[in-house]
Amino acid sequence: MSLRTTQLRIIKFTKDFLLATRLLQIFQPFNKLFGFIYNFNLLTSWVHKNKKAQLLTNDFYRPVRHYDDRLKSFTAIADHYRLTDTPVCYLEFGVASGNSFKWWLATCRNPASRFHGFDTFEGLPESWGVFDKGDMQSPIPEVNDNRASFYKGIFQDTLNGFIDTHRDELTNTRKLIHMDADLFSATLFALSQLYPYLNKGDIIMFDEFNVYDHEFMAYRLFTECFYVNLKPISAQNNFYHAAFEVV
Ligand SMILES: C[S@@+](CC[C@H](N)C(=O)[O-])C[C@H]1O[C@@H](n2cnc3c(N)ncnc32)[C@H](O)[C@@H]1O
Repeated sequence: MSLRTTQLRIIKFTKDFLLATRLLQIFQPFNKLFGFIYNFNLLTSWVHKNKKAQLLTNDFYRPVRHYDDRLKSFTAIADHYRLTDTPVCYLEFGVASGNSFKWWLATCRNPASRFHGFDTFEGLPESWGVFDKGDMQSPIPEVNDNRASFYKGIFQDTLNGFIDTHRDELTNTRKLIHMDADLFSATLFALSQLYPYLNKGDIIMFDEFNVYDHEFMAYRLFTECFYVNLKPISAQNNFYHAAFEVV
């Protein structure tokens, strides 16, 4: 019997034994802890691999978080990729009252640029950390710019209809995708639906990247499962905000 056959038999026996006896269920009360340790260690490894990268902005390590410093990253990206005057297809997932949406709308002045904001506008569809389902509810922002459109509902209901009617724009314009929905489910869903339209040079920003069991997990599973190569280009607040270019 070859070594590989022996290994396979041992693996099969162990797996069947654990399934039949349910032995590992004695650890069930610790599932969250084990999940935290495993997933946080993946985040830690990722950050330490990238912490010294020469990015457009990178403030690692800073002891205090200044949330508004994400604007430093926005500004650096807008300047570097000349988004202020070249056409861009801006897609924001998680708009709420429109703080970031309005910033990009005011900054990217090309008349051919388009801005698409997706949100339930009825708050989070599930709880996230200390936030409950329904938190962050906000009416659709009022903007006086006919380049902007909003799509109300969960992404799981609105995004595919949008894609059907915007294939040309999604294919032929540089996309700036802003993931600010906080949730693992929402982030992974949106990225996976946009996958067929990703082009080299598109930019993906994550507003809560270093939340180990939400946006980071969505980033990790998306890049691993879809074999997508994302190059870090900017980070603020110890990678709480992080931006990537599709390469
Ligand atoms: C942190 S807020 C967005 C903040 C905003 N970008 C800003 O800069 O002020 C997150 C938003 O994501 C939305 N959201 C989360 N999951 C969603 C989903 N699956 N479908 C639609 N909206 C979702 C919530 O309704 C919430 O308004």
